[in-house]
Amino acid sequence: MDFTSSVGNKLVPGDELGYDRAKEVKEFDETKAGVKGLVDSGVTKVPRFLIHPPESLPNPMLSPATTHFQVPVIDLQGFEQSCRRMEIVDQIRKASETWGIFQMINHGVPVSAMDKMLEAVQQFHEQPKEEKIKWYSRDLKQPVKYYTNMNLLVSKAASWRDSISFDFKYGPLNLAALPLACRESVSEYWKHMIELSKTLKELLSEALGLSTDYLANIECMKPELFLCHYYPACPEPYLTLGTKKHSDPSSLTILLQDNIGGLQVLHQDNWVNVPPVHGALVVNIGDLLQLITNDKFRSVEHRVPAGRIGPRISAACFLNPSPARKLGPIKEFLSDSNPPIYRETHISEYAAHHTSKAGNSALSHFKLL
Ligand code: OGA
Ligand code: NI
Repeated sequence: MDFTSSVGNKLVPGDELGYDRAKEVKEFDETKAGVKGLVDSGVTKVPRFLIHPPESLPNPMLSPATTHFQVPVIDLQGFEQSCRRMEIVDQIRKASETWGIFQMINHGVPVSAMDKMLEAVQQFHEQPKEEKIKWYSRDLKQPVKYYTNMNLLVSKAASWRDSISFDFKYGPLNLAALPLACRESVSEYWKHMIELSKTLKELLSEALGLSTDYLANIECMKPELFLCHYYPACPEPYLTLGTKKHSDPSSLTILLQDNIGGLQVLHQDNWVNVPPVHGALVVNIGDLLQLITNDKFRSVEHRVPAGRIGPRISAACFLNPSPARKLGPIKEFLSDSNPPIYRETHISEYAAHHTSKAGNSALSHFKLL
């Protein structure tokens, strides 16, 4: 999601950083042309407000390509047949307990709808600036918006990407409310996300040993936010990040990445690449599913380094609990020997803490003693 480090909620004073950061950020923001605009204008150096401190940057000595770990790939083919289903549910359980992430193939979303979705995101960002800037906004009440880093104005280090987001919290968006460049593709792709989320709710419920309709009944996994990223090629990728290390404050995230790759996950203290597989969708467990499952399923930290090759495109569908629902460890899991680890909360309270922790997991704040 879109998180950047912030100092409380105050603007980062420029002199603390040795230059007038606020002024540079404001000038950049006013162009409404995004990071892509910087690249188009021919920058060969990463501007200071996009430079991250060395401790947040990938360590070039620890290349994820050298680890022997492999993110699980699960084939959903035949999930409706009972004996295949048992195998699939078992694989999902293992991956969710040990990795918090897996790739899925044969998930039922047509590859053509996925390819069109990625093309549409690219087309949106690459259309003439005059058309695109109509959508430039950080107003949370605006359901469709384009921006560079939601927290640009309060962050210490911005990330090398532009985004367009679609908020389905208040129901389906009418077609006319979507930018022409991605209207058809978004509405088509979103229909598939709704279908896929139903299947995943069932498979995850079974993987937790609960009744098939359990997660649907507690309304904790509704497709709600669609966040599409455009990561332009970066001239100095070792100074900035596409997306800094974070966990998702969702229940579950379904991510579509293009064939450039770049997504990395932290597994047993190693950064591991999530290699692009054409037609695959990446599923990662979010913080709220970890909370609800009392740590049975694990939310996973992930990041996207900046790259020399681009643009890289991705599209993340966040499945969130209904705002009205109280969220706490599922009663069926609790016993004297397995007491609740977390207190009850609501998504709004959780999201506020997650933002205040600059995108890092806020689960510790909700731990009971
Ligand atoms: C996110 C995210 C990864 C990507 O939006 O939360 O982790 O590959 N995106 O863009
Ligand atoms: Ni994420």
